[in-house]
Amino acid sequence: MSDINIDNWWLPFTNVRAFQDNPRIFSRAEGCFLYKQDGSEVLDITAGLWCCNVGHGRREIADAVHKQLMTLDYAPPFQFGTPPGFEFAQRITQHTPADINRVFFTNSGSEAVDTALKIAHLYQHARDKGGKQRFISREQGYHGVNVGGTSMQGLPTNRHGFPVLDRVDFLPGMLDISRNAFSRGSPAHGTEEMAAAFENIVAMRGADSICAVIIEPVSGAGGMVPPPQGYLKKVRELCDKHDILLIFDEVITGFGRTGSAFAATEFDVVPDIMTTAKGINGGTVPMGAVLIKDEIQQAIFDAAPNTLPEFFHGNTYAGAPVAAAAGLAAMDIYEQEGLLTCGSGEKGKYWEDALHSLADLPQVIDIRNYGLLGAVSFDPMELPAKSLGPKIHQRCFDNGLLCRAVGDNMVMSPPLSISHQEIDLFISRFRQSVTEVLGQPSSPAVATG
Ligand SMILES: Cc1ncc(COP(=O)(O)O)c(C=O)c1O
Repeated sequence: MSDINIDNWWLPFTNVRAFQDNPRIFSRAEGCFLYKQDGSEVLDITAGLWCCNVGHGRREIADAVHKQLMTLDYAPPFQFGTPPGFEFAQRITQHTPADINRVFFTNSGSEAVDTALKIAHLYQHARDKGGKQRFISREQGYHGVNVGGTSMQGLPTNRHGFPVLDRVDFLPGMLDISRNAFSRGSPAHGTEEMAAAFENIVAMRGADSICAVIIEPVSGAGGMVPPPQGYLKKVRELCDKHDILLIFDEVITGFGRTGSAFAATEFDVVPDIMTTAKGINGGTVPMGAVLIKDEIQQAIFDAAPNTLPEFFHGNTYAGAPVAAAAGLAAMDIYEQEGLLTCGSGEKGKYWEDALHSLADLPQVIDIRNYGLLGAVSFDPMELPAKSLGPKIHQRCFDNGLLCRAVGDNMVMSPPLSISHQEIDLFISRFRQSVTEVLGQPSSPAVATG
């Protein structure tokens, strides 16, 4: 039991009363490990919350932050700039698709999403298409917690009960275990159904009323679901056909998660706007960003009076020098250690094979992976839906493993710096934990894929 007073901090997305009965507190981190207060280690197979992509406790980032604090801790970003902010914006655009070169910094993924929605609106107004006010999102989608992002939420519990914009239609979610179970990478089925649903929405609402589509290239908080083959290219094609903007929410997929710097490159699709955060500076200082096609910024600038800000929007800590300095140091690590692409190379393959070796565990109904992302889905059988995942999660934690439960799916997103040995450790701790909860596998592992 902790000797810290835990009464005052209301934890986000937490059953606080359960937490108070069983506090789970980390006090230190290094590499791929978090440490509990009693000093015991926990293998962090979630990279914090999909963000500590370069591993914990990187001295290079700490030194850069310290140096920046002692050089220029803060300067206002409204009407002024700083060297690290400009330098980091330029470094990011070295990894974005060719036409995406404009960076609007925020403090989080949620702010990036709401900023992107506003930019999309502004752009439609700038080209006299102000009637385009609706959005298309997707069931199971997660787009943060601000009002715009909450309105785009395809996860009902995150949406219901809040005052949201009602101008949103939803494409079907991508998880289809009945047809795609145990796929490696992009599964075969789902693109045609998405296209039909897309066309139905356009037919029902009229293309003239639709501003943008916002989707995660890989569904993250909805259970780690890669896009079916051809899916993202088809979305791009339909957006072009109907003159609708395409926003990729790359808050999770940005900075190497899929095996390319951004999923846009990985899937060879150029969206109009991208949102990102999480891995932007290795999860060290709050920061997010919206990445925008040149022509969109240009159209907005052309339509704005040249005596006023082109965009009446921004945050006090936007592009804060300390966050940008952390980003530059993280970018050095990403580039020097080849982390932005390791998920599509030998490490990604090792991860895929390791994950699929779990197929013999009891009640496993699907295993899926992409880059350095993974998920194992369980059939809860006689248990109420969504209660098995938390049980496995707790047992994993007790056995020194942090993964994430999304309902009865166990979701993984390890630091990109993870070693083969640490992947093996994850597999053995996961196997042990599931076996303790559900019993031994009844038959030997089967080849899958
Ligand atoms: C796809 C996506 N968009 C937006 C967000 C919100 O980011 P933040 O928690 O930094 O506000 C998240 C967070 O997990 C996310 O996964």
